[in-house]
Amino acid sequence: MMDPREDINKPIVLITGCSEGGIGHALARAFAANKCAVVATSRSRSTMADLEHDTRFFLQELDVKSDDSVRRALDAVIAHFGRVDVLVNNAGVQCVGPLPEVPLSAIQSTYETNVFGALRMIQAVVPHMAKRKQGKIVNVGSVTAMASGPWSGAYTSSKAALHSLTDTLRLELSHFGIDVVNVVPGAIKSNIGNSAIASYDHMPEWDLFKPFEAAIRDRAYFSQKTKSTPNDEFAKHTVAAILKKKPPAWFSYGHYSTAMAIMYHLPLCVRDFILKKAMKC
Ligand SMILES: NC(=O)c1ccc[n+]([C@@H]2O[C@H](COP(=O)([O-])OP(=O)(O)OC[C@H]3O[C@@H](n4cnc5c(N)ncnc54)[C@H](OP(=O)(O)O)[C@@H]3O)[C@@H](O)[C@H]2O)c1
Repeated sequence: MMDPREDINKPIVLITGCSEGGIGHALARAFAANKCAVVATSRSRSTMADLEHDTRFFLQELDVKSDDSVRRALDAVIAHFGRVDVLVNNAGVQCVGPLPEVPLSAIQSTYETNVFGALRMIQAVVPHMAKRKQGKIVNVGSVTAMASGPWSGAYTSSKAALHSLTDTLRLELSHFGIDVVNVVPGAIKSNIGNSAIASYDHMPEWDLFKPFEAAIRDRAYFSQKTKSTPNDEFAKHTVAAILKKKPPAWFSYGHYSTAMAIMYHLPLCVRDFILKKAMKC
């Protein structure tokens, strides 16, 4: 277990969704390598078992969908360290399926994690940061929100909402010395494809969209192809940007990040043409 006296001068970084194999876990290791005290959280400690005996990490179970869980974890962090310097809202879920037929409950659940989960964390942590007039809030968005394609509209729109919330928060929280950063990953190796397929297997059979079944399933793994960026590489660059005295408002890195930035500026008819071809829509 970490000794809080040893960590008093280190930045205290709280990260959500740190299961092994994902971006959160890679970020946790990269912050620790940069002399930060890391509060690594996930829904179940068993998914962070490899960090258990490393004294650089303070592990907590935290489900971003639950008020109680967030309060309990944050109380433990404040009791141990007295503060949070950096909050990284990394926890997120993919949701694959055609918007006209995806059950509303699946869309709501996606927003509960990706949008309201992040806001729940922010509302819990901001009072502590505002009191000290310093802190950094990092929201993990996605390049997919820069050019919405077919088959993952629930996820993409939730990330677009998060981008928008991030822009608002940056302005509102600047009065309290809190920097707000939108981290926008490209295609990064993680568990997201496997998790997406596990959820997809619980979807009802498509009616109108049955002929597109193979293309829809493929969307789950779109970010997990051979050229995808290793999560360690992504984490190293991202952490360097976040730890700057003046962090950027927007930081995008990884396979497809440049391509999607270009897509964002294309006329919609050209963008639609490209996305229809790429996603077999
Ligand atoms: N990989 C990419 O190419 C990519 C691209 C753009 C954006 N992103 C974003 O990057 C972030 C990390 O995703 P990833 O790619 O590393 O996927 P991942 O490997 O599936 O990791 C997602 C993490 O979020 C956690 N999580 C899900 N629901 C949660 C909840 N209610 N409370 C707390 N934690 C929860 C998962 O926990 P469990 O292990 O318990 O499920 C897991 O630890 C996400 O916000 C994702 O949208 C990823």
